[in-house]
Amino acid sequence: MKIKMENKKETLTAVEEQKRQQQFIEKARIYVREKSEELGRPLYACTTTFGCQMNARDSEKLDGILEAVGYIKTDKEDEADFVIYNTCTVRENANQRVYGRLGYLGSMKKKKPHMMIALCGCMMQEAHVVEKLKKSYRFVDLIFGTHNIFKFPELLCYAMESDRMIIDVWKDTDQIVEDLPVDRKYKFKSGVNIMFGCNNFCSYCIVPYVRGRERSRNPKDIVREIEHLVADGVVEVMLLGQNVNSYGKNLEEPMTFAQLLKEIEKIEGLKRIRFMTSHPKDLSDELIEVMAESKKICPHLHLPLQSGSSRVLKEMNRRYTKESYLALVDRIREKLPDISLTTDIIVGFPGETEEDFLETMDVVGKVGYDSAFTFIYSKRSGTPAAAKEDQVPEEVVKDRFDRLLAQVQEIARERSSRFEGTVQEVLVESVNDQDASLVTGRMGNNLLVHFPGDASMIGTFKQIHLDVCKGFYYMGTPAE
Ligand code: 5AD
Ligand code: SF4
Repeated sequence: MKIKMENKKETLTAVEEQKRQQQFIEKARIYVREKSEELGRPLYACTTTFGCQMNARDSEKLDGILEAVGYIKTDKEDEADFVIYNTCTVRENANQRVYGRLGYLGSMKKKKPHMMIALCGCMMQEAHVVEKLKKSYRFVDLIFGTHNIFKFPELLCYAMESDRMIIDVWKDTDQIVEDLPVDRKYKFKSGVNIMFGCNNFCSYCIVPYVRGRERSRNPKDIVREIEHLVADGVVEVMLLGQNVNSYGKNLEEPMTFAQLLKEIEKIEGLKRIRFMTSHPKDLSDELIEVMAESKKICPHLHLPLQSGSSRVLKEMNRRYTKESYLALVDRIREKLPDISLTTDIIVGFPGETEEDFLETMDVVGKVGYDSAFTFIYSKRSGTPAAAKEDQVPEEVVKDRFDRLLAQVQEIARERSSRFEGTVQEVLVESVNDQDASLVTGRMGNNLLVHFPGDASMIGTFKQIHLDVCKGFYYMGTPAE
């Protein structure tokens, strides 16, 4: 059984498809039980996630299905009977890591031949990747992409029935299948997809090619999902989309992201709402207004800048300028003075000059980000920027990257300390890794605080006095 890359024409409705996949879950459950009886022990599955929060959420769906078919979750690859990598391809180094780890998995499989290896996610949407896997990594059992994750139970059955590599990668889809099992990493918080795909085609970015066109979920489905999550103990949601600000444009009854937020705000028992990512070109005054009025939306905006040079922004196809970005930041801060702003910046986009780079440094200084993810430009084949001839030499990029990072960190350290001495509400997330007498909580603005506590506090809100800022986090004490 081998399925080729194709433009899938759907014949089943989403509900029928969901029922169909449930049947495959039952079938796979029998295979897992038989194998487990043969080995005289339970079967273990290990999921590894690369990349962004979208992938993290997808992995919870994979885990939900693996659990439903009878696998026990493990984070130890060497004890796993089923290993799946949910891959990312936004930058080249993520791809290299996958190939590196696959080599190791191959040697493990020689010792444990029944072990199954699956690959999914963004990297699999690239034809050259699948070709390379077919040629040099024959031991991989199952390959699928970003558009048919809901078909995982079915593909799992095929892989269990076959000795050959099963490949099912779709070019695109307009289908959104709801209600398959999900195994959440945290009991008290959850990501919620509100849309899939991206229509922006920033010239450096591979996402629109591997995640397809923008599709918004029906608001009723989103609200229903969050209501269920809340009933199950969730107090904080992170609404996920590549460009949440263009939510709802292609719905049968169009609605704006701000309107969706207002609906979500009404859900009783839900305490915190976060979202990402916002594209600056689409961030509306209506959204700023809704954020200012809201009691639940966290005072944090992730607003990717990418470059501070209007010339480079044009080349990047970002559709805003340095000036319009700064004006937007002013409008946000006017209505939300305490808000935390974070960003993504790319250094070394083809043709970036020292002057362009200094424009980026200038915006970083003017905005004063609470934190920033800085990336070295990575050439992604198939994107318009990859064809540009004036790639910036590596040592120049490295030097700019170091200067940018130093400035970003200095400003972030200074910004982070502005709440020192105040009392803030935090949601307790975990027991501290280094010191078990401490717990770690997150403030609305996304900063972390460590303070004395124990595991029973996880998932609860506490008022914490922020005693001292240690750069990017605080040490605190309970204020009650
Ligand atoms: N090279 C470097 N960084 C990239 N990003 C997206 N594509 C590339 C690329 N080709 C960064 C952008 C985006 C973040 C998720 O990844 O900054 O906001
Ligand atoms: Fe990539 Fe731009 Fe879409 Fe973000 S908005 S996913 S950077 S194309």
